Amino acid sequence: MTPDSARGRFVALEGGEGVGKSTQLRLLAEALRAQGAGVVTTREPGGTAGAEAIRAMLLDTGGAGWGPRAEALLFAAARADHVDRLIRPALARGDWVLTDRYLDSSRAYQGGGSGLSDTEILALHAIGSENLLPDRTILLVLDPAQAAMRLALRDRGQSDRIGGRDTAYHARVAAAFLRFAGEDPARFVVVDADGSPEDVHARIMAALFA
Ligand code: TYD
Repeated sequence: MTPDSARGRFVALEGGEGVGKSTQLRLLAEALRAQGAGVVTTREPGGTAGAEAIRAMLLDTGGAGWGPRAEALLFAAARADHVDRLIRPALARGDWVLTDRYLDSSRAYQGGGSGLSDTEILALHAIGSENLLPDRTILLVLDPAQAAMRLALRDRGQSDRIGGRDTAYHARVAAAFLRFAGEDPARFVVVDADGSPEDVHARIMAALFA
């Protein structure tokens, strides 16, 4: 890929909790803008008014919560609105779209973590978002103990409904992300998230524009 590409590119950052996705998203957006590209940054669940409303229903710690199937449908519904109202229009204008999480989070959390099959998650994506996939998915990988330290600093013990699930759940999520990356090396780049934000950013730039 080249930063000055005439067509907008769609890039997703993925990974477990505390690996530094939002910091890296900001640094990548700054680097692309410095090269003259139009850049839209966004996140999931969320990114549009409707998807942010669904986000609140998904992540609030009050109430009874959702079963795995209802949860997967809500993530897919939020993504459908996000794709339709924000991502596709931005790409059509020629902008880059950088999103903090996308489909592979549903595959890893609702699939790997909660036990829905990958086929089921992909079927929801076909219905909701007509299978739109990122041009590149950057998977940030960090040792769980280090991610836990970063999270403790960031959240001060206040994790959301999904972030607060147990260690075994998050280990299944991490393993699922790596499995998907291994199965689709043309779309995924796996980046070591250990080190300073600048070091990790340099790795991302090298991986994207090599
Ligand atoms: P967020 O506060 O954005 O977490 P993080 O900073 O770790 O990205 O909350 C998003 C949570 O929702 C996170 O625990 C991952 C989860 N999630 C899913 O389970 N499925 C999905 O499809 C998406 C997009 C997120």
